[in-house]
Amino acid sequence: MLALEENTLAPHYPVEAPVPQTVALYELDRSEKAAIERLIDMLAPRFSMVESSDFAEECAIHAQELPIGLRRFLYHFKTLQLRKGTALIRGYQMQDHRIGDTPSHWDMPWENPKVLREEIYQCLITALVGDIFGWVTQENGRFMRHIVPIKKDAYEQLGAGSAVDLVWHNEEAFHERRATFLSLLCYRNEEQARTITCSIDDFELDPSQENLLRQKRFVIQPDKAHLPEQNDSQHWQLSDEQFSLIKSHMENPPVIPAIYGPAWERFIQVDQAFMEVVDNDPATKAAIDGLYEKFDRHKAEIVMQPGDLVIIDNDKAVHGRSKYKPNYGPRQRWIRRVNVTADIRKTQDYRANTRSRQLY
Ligand SMILES: [Fe+2]
Repeated sequence: MLALEENTLAPHYPVEAPVPQTVALYELDRSEKAAIERLIDMLAPRFSMVESSDFAEECAIHAQELPIGLRRFLYHFKTLQLRKGTALIRGYQMQDHRIGDTPSHWDMPWENPKVLREEIYQCLITALVGDIFGWVTQENGRFMRHIVPIKKDAYEQLGAGSAVDLVWHNEEAFHERRATFLSLLCYRNEEQARTITCSIDDFELDPSQENLLRQKRFVIQPDKAHLPEQNDSQHWQLSDEQFSLIKSHMENPPVIPAIYGPAWERFIQVDQAFMEVVDNDPATKAAIDGLYEKFDRHKAEIVMQPGDLVIIDNDKAVHGRSKYKPNYGPRQRWIRRVNVTADIRKTQDYRANTRSRQLY
């Protein structure tokens, strides 16, 4: 691995922020970058978009041709040997002039995008830690989200928010088959918004606190991104049927622990904004609030630069985003997100058929 040979940063990014110690960093060297570009050259003419089961399958297969060093790094990350909840892969050359303006909304068409190469880059690398999927209740099952600031959602706990901190959560914490990993690729972040992450392994837990957090004393509701009003689009008609499972979950949420797994390998399932303690038990409330305080104290802050790819272990680490002031308009912050599961077979109960990559 070599450091970046050339300054890839646009004038708006004068300083490359230091990478926190709790984040595993992989810097692509010149030959690795060239090999990845060749792989994208081969795949791009075959697909007009990434939103298909055909693409997801080919992506998983060709990811095995990515440079060996990167594969080894992500293999060790995936199998928990790095003891880090977040990985940062640096070195993709984001060509600011080619990607065009930041979209004003998430509701954009997905065929023949200007950013097909960037989408393939993100999907290929993320496919090394799992199979790509989308949620039927979020953008009608699309794999790739545009995370851009939207004025009317500024105060919401959504990717489109900005005026409030996006508080600690596992992605789709409410769902039994939530993503094992999610990746975020930065296209633009002139506002220098800070992505925050923290792993359950980044600090010690008091045994009595951990004991309470391991008990089935919590319920988590779906976040607003899974509600019909947040999924209104010019591109599809929503049906009641696609939200029926979410609706039944909201009416009858399962009671779950916040921490699970053996003492030597703890996993977490939390959402600060949408999680409640059953019966409002004060000791349990204190235990979960204490956990959020520990996340605050031990958090890693990443100021993503264009081309930075962050992969978050959604079983080990929570994430969020500090509030920031968007440069609303064509150069506003622009992040893409994709979810993957380490075991697609276990999601079968939530899919319509074997090849479908959309979960209910
Ligand atoms: Fe999130």
